[in-house]
Parts: sequence; structure tokens; C-alpha cells
Amino acid sequence: MAKKVAKKSRAARPLKARARPSSKKAAARRSSAKVVGLKAAKSNGKSLLPPPSKRPFGKDGKALDGVRILDFTHVQSGPTCTQLLAWFGADVIKVERPGVGDITRGQLVDVKGADSLYFTMLNHNKRSITIDSKHPEGKRVLNELIKACDVLVENFAPGALDRMGLTWEHIHKLNPRMVVASVKGFGPGPYEDCKVYENVAQCAGGAASTTGFRDGPPLVTGAQIGDSGTGLHLALGIVCALYQRNRTGRGQKVLAAMQDGVLNLCRVKLRDQQRLKAGPLAEYSQHGEGVPFGSAVPRAGNDSGGGQPGWILKCKGWETDPDAYIYFITQAPVWGAICDVIGEPTWKTDPEYTTPKARLPKLKQIFDRIERWTMTRTKFEVMNICNEVDIPVGPILSMKEIAEEPSLRATGTVVEVDHPVRGKYLTVGNPIKLSDSVSEVKRSPLLGEHTDEILSKVLGFSKSEVEKIKVSGALSAAGKEDKAA
Ligand code: COA
Repeated sequence: MAKKVAKKSRAARPLKARARPSSKKAAARRSSAKVVGLKAAKSNGKSLLPPPSKRPFGKDGKALDGVRILDFTHVQSGPTCTQLLAWFGADVIKVERPGVGDITRGQLVDVKGADSLYFTMLNHNKRSITIDSKHPEGKRVLNELIKACDVLVENFAPGALDRMGLTWEHIHKLNPRMVVASVKGFGPGPYEDCKVYENVAQCAGGAASTTGFRDGPPLVTGAQIGDSGTGLHLALGIVCALYQRNRTGRGQKVLAAMQDGVLNLCRVKLRDQQRLKAGPLAEYSQHGEGVPFGSAVPRAGNDSGGGQPGWILKCKGWETDPDAYIYFITQAPVWGAICDVIGEPTWKTDPEYTTPKARLPKLKQIFDRIERWTMTRTKFEVMNICNEVDIPVGPILSMKEIAEEPSLRATGTVVEVDHPVRGKYLTVGNPIKLSDSVSEVKRSPLLGEHTDEILSKVLGFSKSEVEKIKVSGALSAAGKEDKAA
């Protein structure tokens, strides 16, 4: 029985088999067959899973094979999400505005006439179709795509999808199985109508107020925790919604608000906010310096966010190299090793230093002493010496060093991609490695590169129908201008 379920599942069927536009009845028949199949398997008291594959790991397709995504995303947050899904095997169809496309295609351009790195690095493994979503024929094509896809992902400004006529009610009626996933700046509440970019989210999600030095202004971080971070959250929500759909047979809405995503990544700071009631935060260096705490969690410079104090220390060459630094953690279990490495063996038994509690008020003095040692070595020498004796340290790697790091190339975390217009460039590959769903990084699509292919092969439109849609102006900027003229 389990075998049968696998046969019937959408994921197991080749994409071509569901390429034709289907009547509502046929779609309903297919859906119920799937649900009945699952139920039948369950009623037998057997596992819903097929027997374990005998094919070698990595040779049995991809995790999301058979899942088709209608990708209405742009800029960074949404594209991060759909790129991940594409790496896991989903067929991602990116809908772009005719003539313009995703605005990032033309932002921060480094090679004239080529899509920017901003765009190419966020849109690998996708197909692109251009559709004017406000044109009547464009709407018709979109309705067909909604029927043919499993998930719609969007990160328009609040209300934009509804203004296109693509309300949840409309989508759910056309395809009750569709998962509709959105990134918005804020969840429901006073700011729900606001447009939001990365740094707005970093500020509203609590990251900026807790980043930087106590005597300086709030700081944003280079890690795109608002955009890419929320894209990651959304991807997980989508996969969960698809998993639940296996049981319920229906889609649902998935919302990842950027403020919420950033706050989720800042949860240790909300932890500290509550700990303030119990007294000063002893692990913050401000405590050792005798500076009183206010009513909110302060900026903590390079203090570690956990119970093991750490700081960034200069290494050999710091005078000329802005990245000749290392993060050094004075993890309690290896305190003895730290004392030996830096040449202070008496600190191992000196009651002034021997316990974490005794060290807390003197962290600055301790890190100054450790730094006198790290300054005599390069960051890589410090890394090697400390790792030998299990002291956790992290060299400050520049983007140049990361780009050249052979081990990151070997794992596919940094990948060189060839692009027909811009030539070769580096990108970050899938950071999540699945042993049975190995990601390959394929170049991003040119604007509208797959329009014909999607209309004919995915939606099953005949040659003459495709021509008719083209002539209507729904797929091209020129057509739009003609119409407007
Ligand atoms: N055909 C026709 N119109 C299209 C289209 C298409 N294929 N694709 C988009 N549009 C239209 C939209 O319908 C919208 O029109 P409307 O305002 O008349 O309804 C318009 O393009 C602009 O969309 P919008 O999302 O408002 O873009 P923006 O450039 O003004 O704002 C953001 C950009 C990122 C600020 C905004 O989209 C946003 O806040 N998104 C949610 C949060 C988010 O993801 N932010 C991070 C981005 S990295």
C-alpha cells in the first residue's frame, strides 16, 4: 500500500504529466485520489512512507521535486526564500513585470548590460516569465499558473497582491491546495501597512538597539537578518504548510513578518531584558567597568551573548590590516589551557582568576592580557594554537579571504557560476546540505527567458494561443506602451 501512495503522490509524477491545463473536475479528482490514497494507507495501520529507496544517496531526486512555486518575489527577502526552495528541487517560476523585471536586475550594476550581482546571486535555479499582472490577459495567464502551482510566494508592499485581484479568497477558490506565502515588514498591528527594507527591520526587530558600542549610536549589521533571515523563516513555513497539506489536502496562508524574524534572531536580548529585573547583567563588560544599567538592554560591543565571555582581539598585523583580529572566548572548562597559552600559569590557581565568577569583574583586564599574546601571532596562528587545546576562537575573515577559501569551494558553499551575459562570478551556494538532495547552483534566468516554455509546456497553451496572448500586450513592455498610447 505504501508503494501505491508513493506512486500517486504529486511529487512522484513527472512534471510533464501535470503540465496541461486541467478542468476543475479533473483537478478535484486528482486531489481526492491523493487524499484517499493517504487515508487508505493510514487505515491499514501501515506507514505512509514508501519503502526505503535502494538508490545511492544523492541519486534519488531532490527533496522538493514535484513542487511548483509561483514566485512573485522581488528584491531580497522573497527571492532568498524561493532560491532555497529551488535548490531543494522545486520548480520556481518567477513572474516579472514586462520590460523591467525584478528591480534588482538593474541595481548596483557592475557589468553594463548584464543583470546585477544583486539579482543573479538571489535568483539561481529559477525560470522567468514576464506577465503584466494588471492586464486582463495577464490575469488569465496568472489564474492558470495558480491552478498549476503548489505555492505562491510574494513580498509585495501590503495590499499590492489584493490590488492585482489575487486575494486569498480568489486564489483559494481557484486552487484550494495552494499555499500562499508572504513576507511583510510587520505583522498585523499599527505598522502593518508600512513598506519595509532590511535596515528598517533590523531597527524595529530589536537588533540595532542591541548592536554597537555603549557610547556610540545603534548599529545595523552587515548580515541581512531582516531580508535573508526572513526569507529563511518563510521557507520553513512553506515546507511545513506543504507537509500539513499532505494530511489536510488544503493550502494555507504563511506569513513571515520581518520584524518578527529579526526579533526571533534577537531572542537572547529579550532574555536579557527580563534578566535585568534580577540585577545587573554580570557578563556584560559594562558591569565590570562599574557602569550602571538603564531600563533597557544596552549595546554590548563585542561581548558574547552567552555565558562564556568573549571579545575581539588584535592580532599580528592589525596596524595595517583591518581584519587582523580574532574573536576569543574564555570558555570556563579550558581556562587552564588559556592561562598556559598566554603565559599566565599562576592564574590557574589564583583565587582572583580561577573561577568564572571571580573573572567577571575583570574581563577587560583579562582580555587586555590575552591580546598582548594574540598581537604576537597572526589570526591563523592563534586559531591553530588555540584549537590544539580546544579554546574556541574565530578569525575575522574578510570577504576576500572567504572568496578564496578552498574548503568553502569544496563544499559548494562558495560557487563559481557562468552567466551568458556577465561571464563568471562567485556566489554563495546552498548553506544547508542534505545528503540525499544535493544542490547544484544554476545561473539566474534572463528576464522572460522562459516565457514561451512556461506558457506551452507548463500551461499547455497552443502555439496560436501563445501568439494571441503575446499580441494582447500582456507579456511585453512594448505591448503595454502600445495599449497605453
Ligand atoms: N505586473 C504589473 N504590476 C506589477 C507587477 C507585474 N508583474 N509586479 C509588481 N507590480 C506592481 C504592484 O502591483 C505594485 O503596484 P500597486 O502599488 O499599484 O498595487 C507595484 O508594482 C509596486 O509593488 P511594491 O511591492 O509596492 O514595490 P515597491 O518598490 O514600491 O516597494 C518594498 C518595495 C520592498 C518596500 C515593498 O515591496 C515591501 O514593503 N515589501 C514587503 C517587505 C519586504 O519584503 N521588504 C524587503 C524587500 S528586500
